[in-house]
Amino acid sequence: MAFKTLDQINLRGQRVFIRCDLNVPLDAAGRIADDTRIRASLDGIRHAMQQGGRVMVTSHLGRPAEGALDASDSLRPVAQRLAQLLGVPVPLIDNWLEVPFGVQPGGVVMLENCRAHVGEKANSPELAQRMAALCDVYVNDAFGTAHRAEATTEALARLAREACAGPLMASELLALSRALAAPERPMAAIVGGSKVSTKLAILNALAQRVELLVVGGGMANTFLLAAGQPVGKSLCEPTMVDAAREVVATLKARGARLFLPTDVVVADEVSETALPAIKAVAQVAGNDLILDFGPQSMRRLVDELQACKTIVWNGPLGVFEIEKFSHGTRMLATAIAGASAYSIAGGGDTVAAVNQFDVAARIDYVSTAGGAFLEFLEGKTLPAVRALEDRAH
Ligand code: 3PG
Repeated sequence: MAFKTLDQINLRGQRVFIRCDLNVPLDAAGRIADDTRIRASLDGIRHAMQQGGRVMVTSHLGRPAEGALDASDSLRPVAQRLAQLLGVPVPLIDNWLEVPFGVQPGGVVMLENCRAHVGEKANSPELAQRMAALCDVYVNDAFGTAHRAEATTEALARLAREACAGPLMASELLALSRALAAPERPMAAIVGGSKVSTKLAILNALAQRVELLVVGGGMANTFLLAAGQPVGKSLCEPTMVDAAREVVATLKARGARLFLPTDVVVADEVSETALPAIKAVAQVAGNDLILDFGPQSMRRLVDELQACKTIVWNGPLGVFEIEKFSHGTRMLATAIAGASAYSIAGGGDTVAAVNQFDVAARIDYVSTAGGAFLEFLEGKTLPAVRALEDRAH
């Protein structure tokens, strides 16, 4: 992977357009519920300001209808939070393609939600050309949006006078490539989530790479069913049983293994008040819902992970939002944090689990991305990354 990086470009007096992913969760009152993505974008913004660039930062927020921006999709709270973190004012510029505006060298403005422009999602070259006219240097620091070919992530990278990756983009790609392109072995991947159908491409791609594939969450039930085990009334996809068997066959053909639980935590409902029981998988009854890995399985899994040199984690093992079904995911998070392996974690639920169990600082890399992380795991080339690579020559 070769692309120019921000530190290679002289920014003094240049108009620097930074595409970040500041798509942060907002609460019902429109307040930022988690500012991780804003904090993760600070390095690139600070660097451009310190180097004397005239800095413009933009991002999408939510999925607004193009051409009409609702107040709830405004970047205003994000600009305010960025101003607090930087300790300087960050004016929010509305209608930035229509109304002229200026930025002082070393200063910064925020350009209102880039998805408000007609043509953004369609990756319109005409729209990107108008943006290119606003800047001397285009910086893509939005790894979280790198799987989207949109005007600010793809076409603009091709049309701007100079195009480069920001430090967050570069470090995400470095970490993911280290774990996936040239991993130290043995390598384990843990993939949780509710449905095999939505993660089949990831499972197939990982089955080609890892020594140990751990399937968790509702997906584990489909794999148990494929292995002829009872799953009671648990979430599972009988139509995906053949696909699950193919994943297992791919692993076997390479001498790799699938890890499934041998004991599980069951209850008859998913609720805070449910009564959990630990059962061997073979004892799961018709009325049982499998909601977590059991303690014996977790001890086995923790041991297996200690022997690995690379660990990739996406998705919880059980219903970790409810304390009594969270022990498997907690033990997994703690084991990954304590392992000597190079470890990465990513994807919405996973980051929530990493934060809930307070292990972020001890995992080698926690991605800020959701969908982009998953597409990278699938082995796809992300369009925004390809555009930066094409500009490296
Ligand atoms: C994300 O939150 O995963 C990214 O910001 C991409 O958002 P999108 O799915 O709306 O493109």
